[in-house]
Amino acid sequence: MIHPVGLGVVMADWSAKNPFMTTISNNFVLNGEGSRKETRHVVFELKDSGLEYKAGDALGVVPRCPTDLVDELLEKLNFSGEEDVETHLGGCTIREALTDRYEIHRVSKKWIEGLSNRISDRSGPVEMKIVRRQRYSSNDGSLIVDWKNDSGQGEVPEGYVEIGSIGDNSAILLNELVSDKSSMEDYIWSRDYIDAISDFRNMGFTPQQLIEGMDRLKPRLYSIASSPEFEKGTVHLTVAIVRYNHHERDRTGLCTGYMADECETGETEVGVFMSPTRSFVLPEDGSKDIIMVGPGTGIAPFRAFLQQREIDKSEGRNWLFFGDWTSKGEYLYEEEMEEWKHRGVITKHDLAWSREGEEKVYVQHLMKKNGQEIWNWIENGAYFYVCGDKQYMAKDVHQTLIDICSEYGGMSPEESKEFVETGLMKTEKRYLRDVY
Ligand SMILES: Cc1cc2nc3c(=O)[nH]c(=O)nc-3n(C[C@H](O)[C@H](O)[C@H](O)COP(=O)(O)OP(=O)(O)OC[C@H]3O[C@@H](n4cnc5c(N)ncnc54)[C@H](O)[C@@H]3O)c2cc1C
Ligand SMILES: NC(=O)c1ccc[n+]([C@@H]2O[C@H](COP(=O)([O-])OP(=O)(O)OC[C@H]3O[C@@H](n4cnc5c(N)ncnc54)[C@H](OP(=O)(O)O)[C@@H]3O)[C@@H](O)[C@H]2O)c1
Repeated sequence: MIHPVGLGVVMADWSAKNPFMTTISNNFVLNGEGSRKETRHVVFELKDSGLEYKAGDALGVVPRCPTDLVDELLEKLNFSGEEDVETHLGGCTIREALTDRYEIHRVSKKWIEGLSNRISDRSGPVEMKIVRRQRYSSNDGSLIVDWKNDSGQGEVPEGYVEIGSIGDNSAILLNELVSDKSSMEDYIWSRDYIDAISDFRNMGFTPQQLIEGMDRLKPRLYSIASSPEFEKGTVHLTVAIVRYNHHERDRTGLCTGYMADECETGETEVGVFMSPTRSFVLPEDGSKDIIMVGPGTGIAPFRAFLQQREIDKSEGRNWLFFGDWTSKGEYLYEEEMEEWKHRGVITKHDLAWSREGEEKVYVQHLMKKNGQEIWNWIENGAYFYVCGDKQYMAKDVHQTLIDICSEYGGMSPEESKEFVETGLMKTEKRYLRDVY
């Protein structure tokens, strides 16, 4: 549905289910030569979408599964690709389902759990019990345990299935996976459906059975790295490409691999939509100071904030904490940042390089060093922003902020926790986070 929102401006209801199809107009690696990371700057065209955003918002990107992976899976199962299947989004061909409707790059727990039913479907009621267990060393493949139960000395007891009758070790593996949570996690962490089909063999899947239990394909969100007024008609992202090698095959994250390897600049149509934020926004009063902590791809919204503060000619001071592995390889947007620093848009700039010296330097270490001044800024009404890794960085930065407020604000640790978590975060809403 499209409806007017003012003079000549049309705002469209683009969403995850109804994304705007556009192209990438620029896509380049931000890392320096020799870097072992691949962090990309990716620019999407907004064209006539009517899509609007503000600094702080995120963009949703709808990935597609790699054609090679789809082809390989179809071939492994002897499907032509034209077979019809029924999916949560209605009927389509199996090729379309594997490309646009399911995540085929990571095998799902539900799919593995459903395998025992599929085995039964195929060959009548089958009870799988382990009559023999063999463990091999993962280093050299040698046999380290060979166990047979009492009644199973060479013979398979009644009601038991001999390993091998449903495909070598697949019964053992399946039994282990469904009965042991950590084995299951280990298994699905590094495998896709090509691996799973190899491990469990082709169990006579129909195309419909193949997709049952697969995870539905989900869009990914990316913090926007541009201000709409600074970078007119486009939306910019800072994307860490996920690449790894397991079981002798190179793999990528679904969406980052798609943007890096599958999307041809100016050609490939990609679905996008806006994910607006209500909370992670710049202070309405431009005279307020802001402190931004954004290591790695956490820099993205702060590039947007700095562009916006520059365009608005905001008088408040801007303090940026950034960090990554090395200044040579991972100083993202170095030229822009140095230029902003030179022109005084970045008032204070602290850079934490974690793999440059003998010891790791993280953003929170530099916060600690600047504790007194951070406290002065906060006492003076500064806003405090954090973006990037949720699991480790954001937690450590959070604790460091509490420690700083306690030490320099003359509060007990409990009072400081309350001040930060209730006062700054909830009441005054000037401690804001965009963590993932
Ligand atoms: C609000 C928000 C903002 C975000 N902003 C950004 C941003 O600005 N920039 C950015 O880059 N990302 C951002 N992200 C993360 C982004 O949405 C994706 O999660 C990320 O890009 C990975 O997506 P993918 O499809 O490439 O990987 P997926 O296919 O989803 O795979 C990622 C998963 O791969 C697994 N994995 C990683 N390494 C390995 C390994 N060695 N072996 C096995 N498995 C592994 C991990 O479990 C990880 O969760 C944001 C997320 C949110 C929620
Ligand atoms: N939740 C998630 O899924 C999630 C979130 C963020 C990033 N990632 C993934 O991580 C990869 C790289 O992401 P990225 O480029 O944004 O960088 P990043 O991994 O977040 O690293 C940026 C910097 O933060 C440092 N760091 C690590 N632990 C920290 C901590 N506890 N406190 C403060 N700093 C810490 C890193 O140092 P060292 O590496 O030297 O320790 C590095 O210098 C990508 O594959 C991305 O998808 C995943």
